[in-house]
Amino acid sequence: MKIDQYTELYGIIGYPVRHSLSPLMHNTAFEAVGINAVYFAFETRDLKAVTEGMKALPIKGMSVTTPHKIRIIDHLDDLHALASQIGSVNTVVNHDGRLIGFNTDASGALRALEGKVRLEDTHSLIVGAGGAARSIAFALKEMGAIVTITNRTASKGKALTKALGCGFVPWEKMDHIEAELIVQTTPLGMAPDINACPIPVSILKPGITVMDIIYNPRCTRLLRLAESRDCQIIDGVSMFVHQGAEQFRIWTNLDPPLRVMEEVVKEALEKQDGSK
Ligand code: ATR
Repeated sequence: MKIDQYTELYGIIGYPVRHSLSPLMHNTAFEAVGINAVYFAFETRDLKAVTEGMKALPIKGMSVTTPHKIRIIDHLDDLHALASQIGSVNTVVNHDGRLIGFNTDASGALRALEGKVRLEDTHSLIVGAGGAARSIAFALKEMGAIVTITNRTASKGKALTKALGCGFVPWEKMDHIEAELIVQTTPLGMAPDINACPIPVSILKPGITVMDIIYNPRCTRLLRLAESRDCQIIDGVSMFVHQGAEQFRIWTNLDPPLRVMEEVVKEALEKQDGSK
C-alpha cells in the first residue's frame, strides 16, 4: 500500500475495538478497488473529540461500534432518514465538513438472513437492546416479523420496546418465549470470553434459526449449542461483511468488492482459530 499526500483517511471508533476486523476488511477493499485510502482502529470514548477531529483532519468516513452507536447521534450534523428512524448509527460520512450518520446494520442483518428464514409473521427474540439490537429489531419489524426483546437492563429493553412497538420479556424469563428466530446481539461469547452464552439451552428448539452477530469467534458457544440441538445457525460474518460493504458504497459511491471482503475476513478468522 502506497501512502502519499493524497491518501484519504477512514477508521472505526469503539471501546474496545482491537478485536475488530473492520480495518483488515476495509483496507483490503480499498486496495482491491484501487482507492488511495487507509482505515485505522481508534479505541476511544470521547465522541466530542472524535467528531471535532474528523472535521479538523479531515477524516472522510468512520465506522461506529460498541458502545457508541446511539450516543454518536448527538455529535453529528445530520442523519440519513433510515438512521434517524432507527435511532442508531454505525457509519459516519464527512461531507465537506458536515458529519452525516447512516445505518447499515439493518440492511446487513437482512442480507445475512435472506434466503435462510422467512421473516413474515415469524416469532423472533432479540437478545440485547443496544444499537445493533435496535437496528435488527427495526429491520425484522419492517419485514413483518413479530419481535420480542429481552435485555439484562430491563429499563433499556422496555424503552426500546416502546420506541419500536414490539414485545418485551424479562432477561430471566426469556425461556418463556417460543421463538422461531433468535438473534443474539450482546458481546457475551465474543473473544476472549468465548465460554459465555446469554441464552438458556431450553429455548434452542430443533428447527428454529439462531443468529449470533458476534463474528469473532465465528462459531460462538451459543451457535455450537444451537447446532447440537438441530437449530439452523447463522454466524456473524455475513452481517459483518454486508454492513461493511454498504459502508464502502456510501463512502466511495462504488460497488463494494464483496467477495474479496468476505474472503479476507473468513481467512483471518480461520487463521486465528487454527492458532488457538
Ligand atoms: P451495540 O452497539 O453493539 O449494540 P451496545 O449499544 O453497547 O452495543 O449494546 C450492548 C448490549 O449488550 C446491551 O443490550 C447490553 O445490555 P445492558 O443494556 O444491560 O447494558 C448488552 N450487554 C453487554 N454486556 C452484557 C453482559 N455482560 N450481560 C448481558 N448483556 C450485556
